[in-house]
Amino acid sequence: MDTHAQQYNRPSGSPSGAFSGSRFEAMMIPGSLEPTPVTSLQWEKIGFSVVVASHMGGSVAGADGVFEAPVVLPSGVLRMPPQACALNYGQALFEGMKARRGVDGKIRLFRMADNAMRMSRGAGRFMMAAPSPELYARTVLETVKANLEYVPPEGKGSLYIRPLLAGVGMTLAPAASDTTLFMVYVQPVGSYFKGLSCIAIKADADYHRAAARGTGWVKAAGNYAPCFMPVKKAKADGFADILFLDHEGRHVEEVGSANFAMVKKGTLYVADSPSILGGITRDSVMRVAREALGVKVVFAPLELDKVLGLGAYAKQGPADEAFCMGTAAVISPIGSLRWKDADFTFGKGETGPLTASIYEKIDGIQIGRLPDTYGWTTVVD
Ligand code: PLP
Ligand code: COI
Repeated sequence: MDTHAQQYNRPSGSPSGAFSGSRFEAMMIPGSLEPTPVTSLQWEKIGFSVVVASHMGGSVAGADGVFEAPVVLPSGVLRMPPQACALNYGQALFEGMKARRGVDGKIRLFRMADNAMRMSRGAGRFMMAAPSPELYARTVLETVKANLEYVPPEGKGSLYIRPLLAGVGMTLAPAASDTTLFMVYVQPVGSYFKGLSCIAIKADADYHRAAARGTGWVKAAGNYAPCFMPVKKAKADGFADILFLDHEGRHVEEVGSANFAMVKKGTLYVADSPSILGGITRDSVMRVAREALGVKVVFAPLELDKVLGLGAYAKQGPADEAFCMGTAAVISPIGSLRWKDADFTFGKGETGPLTASIYEKIDGIQIGRLPDTYGWTTVVD
């Protein structure tokens, strides 16, 4: 019997109007989170800290793995039993997307179907029900439409979209929950790093982000908390983030929140590994570089020595350009990398020409300045 799922069947008792009958509404206390007034937002100064938008969307699947029709409700906190699997055993993962207001005033989402697919792959690994691409898209679109006033003006940031998937049924023995929450919240964001200005990062010899055959390739909530401590230390030393290495300390993996690439003699080297996130920005960068800019792209494990010009690569010197890329990070040029006690500068320590061209192309597609020949964007009408 679907006993644990049933705890989410009862009305929330919220005074917010008619109960929709959905398990998502039973989980939420609609209206219990005070939205940030749009009038208080200063678009020029907006960064990457919490803003509460007015509405959140979601749907819950019971033991049959079938999600109900999604509903969008006034923003609220969730009710969850302390025995919820996500809280005890980390059965949770998330996605990250952006909606951007374009030069033509239209709002566009970027590569939504790819985010839905990645969530579905992660759900399989973590034994959760996976929202179909249609349910994913409907929930995202309806949530964005309910929060249109939070989409920043063109050129002043994006609406960050955070789809979550979590096992919320009760477990004591560590095993999969019978109830899965899929929900979407959104908020306006500005730069995660420093826009197109260079950042300095460090490669970390002491901490690894993901195990070789582990779940680094899933956007699992539990991959992020172990990075807080080393990243905090790196930030205290003046670095924007950490470049994590593989278990041998030989190949670069990824930055804590973005993938890594470098340019040497006109070739783009993009770091691959089975234990890193298959970034959608990374894929877009490679396609634009190859197909639109005619650049040779090498997508393979990338030795730290090659990035820094050490060992067998000593004659070649450090990379000419380096950058990290992700939905939040966008394309962030890396001016220098600390390894052990030395700082290695890429090119002149400024945004490189290929980095800038790739950025221009992807940014142009996202805001409708350039034609979307790839079919990557969805216009929110
Ligand atoms: N790697 C990690 C660890 C991330 O958190 C992200 C951000 O989502 C990425 C890479 C880049 O992925 P995407 O380009 O799909 O946002
Ligand atoms: C993203 O780019 O969407 C991320 O999830 C990275 C970070 C904010 C955790």
